[in-house]
Amino acid sequence: MTALRWGVASDHAGFALKEKVRGWLRARGIEAQDLGAHSDARTDYPDWGHALGAAIAEGRLDRGVIVCGTGIGVSIAANRHAGVRAALCHDAFTAAMARAHNDANVLALGARVLGDGVAESVVDAFLSAAFEGGRHADRVVKLG
Ligand code: RB5
Repeated sequence: MTALRWGVASDHAGFALKEKVRGWLRARGIEAQDLGAHSDARTDYPDWGHALGAAIAEGRLDRGVIVCGTGIGVSIAANRHAGVRAALCHDAFTAAMARAHNDANVLALGARVLGDGVAESVVDAFLSAAFEGGRHADRVVKLG
């Protein structure tokens, strides 16, 4: 099986956490493509949610982590792209269920919501859980 292609993106509010997420992914053997932002200079969160969402919709990436202050704005933007199932998660249980039941392909994080320890546990849960398929596959198809 070919390795999944991961990407990360954030606005200015999510920049510092996005950099940490890249490191956490790297420590787990995943070299994520960094779509930006590349500094904490003020920028618009839709640009980064759209950047990651488009990369998945166009088949350039398979999975991603997006970050803004709350995680809300980037998740709304990413979810406007075909085939993107971005899940905004503030805890490890939700992140695991996002993979297991929703086959989420994007994890959205709120940098102003989560401490680093919780954020890493959320990333870990998203990486570790597998889609259960079965009845959940039928429901994911209905998401469109
Ligand atoms: C930026 O101030 C903030 O609005 C943004 O990071 C995000 O939280 C939007 O949903």
